[in-house]
Amino acid sequence: MKIRKAVIPVAGKGTRFLPATKQVPKEMLPIINTPMIHYAVEEAVNSGVEELIFVTSSGKEAIENYFDRNLELERFLEVNGKHEMLKTVHRIGTMVEIVSVRQKEQLGLGHAINCARTLIGNEPFAVILGDDIILHETPITKQLIDVSEKFGAKSVIGVMEVDRNETNKYGIVDGNFLDGSKSTLLMNKMVEKPRPEDAPTNIATPGRYILTAEIFDCLKEIPKGVGGEYQLTDAINMLCGKDQVYAHIFKGDRFDTGCIDGYLDATVEFALRDPQTRKIMEEIIKEKVKKYNLG
Ligand code: G1P
Repeated sequence: MKIRKAVIPVAGKGTRFLPATKQVPKEMLPIINTPMIHYAVEEAVNSGVEELIFVTSSGKEAIENYFDRNLELERFLEVNGKHEMLKTVHRIGTMVEIVSVRQKEQLGLGHAINCARTLIGNEPFAVILGDDIILHETPITKQLIDVSEKFGAKSVIGVMEVDRNETNKYGIVDGNFLDGSKSTLLMNKMVEKPRPEDAPTNIATPGRYILTAEIFDCLKEIPKGVGGEYQLTDAINMLCGKDQVYAHIFKGDRFDTGCIDGYLDATVEFALRDPQTRKIMEEIIKEKVKKYNLG
């Protein structure tokens, strides 16, 4: 069954980026001139998703406006001969169908996904957490869709290996690699943020999922978990007992832009990757290395 819909939760408070996020949604903070949420949406669109569901909260209207047309701006760019930027702005406003649903209380990621239940209906869907930007010529969500289709539209969790002492930041999966595969596992459980000494493995999700609609039955049943929140991980763990659930080690460069370290890393790296800004960033780095006696 084709994956037509993706859920992108954007209701979080973004406390790690306060005070900026007092007024600006963290998803709208830019890496150079592109808001972080743009990468998640582009990933969905380039993976064949036709409809996006934002799970929002109050104060997040700027995100919906960003993906809407802005006719006044388009006219201004046209009159002033800024044709390239006009194309970019027009594309952002027309790239995908977006609907949103409010998460009225912040009760966890599981609760956020459950808010999209009626909009999803009875079909498999993707979940993309925008805190991580993951770049590869085949978008990570597409990589997971391919695995899901291979096994007859099953759930697939995007995973990567992390340092053992970082397991308490992630949902950690356990399972067995399929015969002859070094990248796909049949899962037998998933644990939310275990301490390193309790973690079954060091295979973690940075927040990419293909889920079957059965997840909603599990979301209904799970009790509150880590942090007193309804955890998507706990629902996936329950799903492992009812159906085959796979985990797939994705290919790509990952930037954890949900924290200041990763945000800075992405900013420098993206400037170096873009031919238009590469020289400028090179000069800045050289000058700072000298000025602060680095390296
Ligand atoms: C959430 C999920 C966790 C996942 C992580 C990826 O946690 O609950 O399983 O590994 O996103 O970023 P959060 O980072 O929102 O606390």
